[in-house]
Amino acid sequence: MASDSSRPDVADVPRVTTNTIQEMKREGVPIAALTAYDYTSARLYDRAGIDVLLVGDSASNVMAGNETTLPITLDHMIYHAQCVVEGIERALVVVDLPFGAYQGDSKEGLRSAVRVMKEAGAHAVKLEGGAPVVGTVERIVEAGVPVMGHLGLTPQSIYEFGTYQVRARDDEEAGQLLEDARRLEEAGCFALVLEKIPADLATEVTEALSIPTIGIGAGAGTDGQVLVSHDALGLSTDFNPRFVRRYAELEETITSAIGDYVSDVRSRSFPSDAETYE
Ligand code: KIV
Repeated sequence: MASDSSRPDVADVPRVTTNTIQEMKREGVPIAALTAYDYTSARLYDRAGIDVLLVGDSASNVMAGNETTLPITLDHMIYHAQCVVEGIERALVVVDLPFGAYQGDSKEGLRSAVRVMKEAGAHAVKLEGGAPVVGTVERIVEAGVPVMGHLGLTPQSIYEFGTYQVRARDDEEAGQLLEDARRLEEAGCFALVLEKIPADLATEVTEALSIPTIGIGAGAGTDGQVLVSHDALGLSTDFNPRFVRRYAELEETITSAIGDYVSDVRSRSFPSDAETYE
């Protein structure tokens, strides 16, 4: 449904909540989400009007330099989430439960979710997977914690998949994904991330659910989009999948700025008299 320009935009709220993004789906207003891991960036993205900030476990890759998301711990995620929460006034902050923090049983999942909410002041948690995590989602939701699901390419299962290629290209996996999406909605998820799946399937899932879908590498038919902020800002240009659009070239900008600084220090042109106390 297209939004009616004579009415105030549903996204025009002082504080985005899980209800806001569900209403955005109903009103046909696309949801803009981005990852964030620190105070300064979160503050900038929030001021720029982002709806959802995801403290992704991609922090393991882009903040810690690990090859996968598996090594990051719950304590690390809580630290990043605390920093992001300090920086925002409007955005909904969703925090990834990391690998090993919820797969054991639903009690462990609830304990991890409660820590994220209490210690970081987050607004919701996200966890990966379908049928095997439905019981955990139910338990966390029953405790009053909003849960975002995540299907398709779920990086915490990379050693099961063996590759970062597009998921659910065959009918069997596509059918399973649709079934998992329905079960996650029934279990109480307020939204669902769909990562790296064919666009037609993402559109079908989006139409089948009443909760919003947020895509990454899932085409234009989802209710919103999310990107890893480092990719969107061109901070790590050695990662170039086709689904990433770069809105800045910060690798180049920062490297050049720091090169200028080094050169000014070497040539003693920094600091100048104007930058010096008498
Ligand atoms: O960790 C992350 O950044 C994510 C997004 C890619 C959805 O889960």
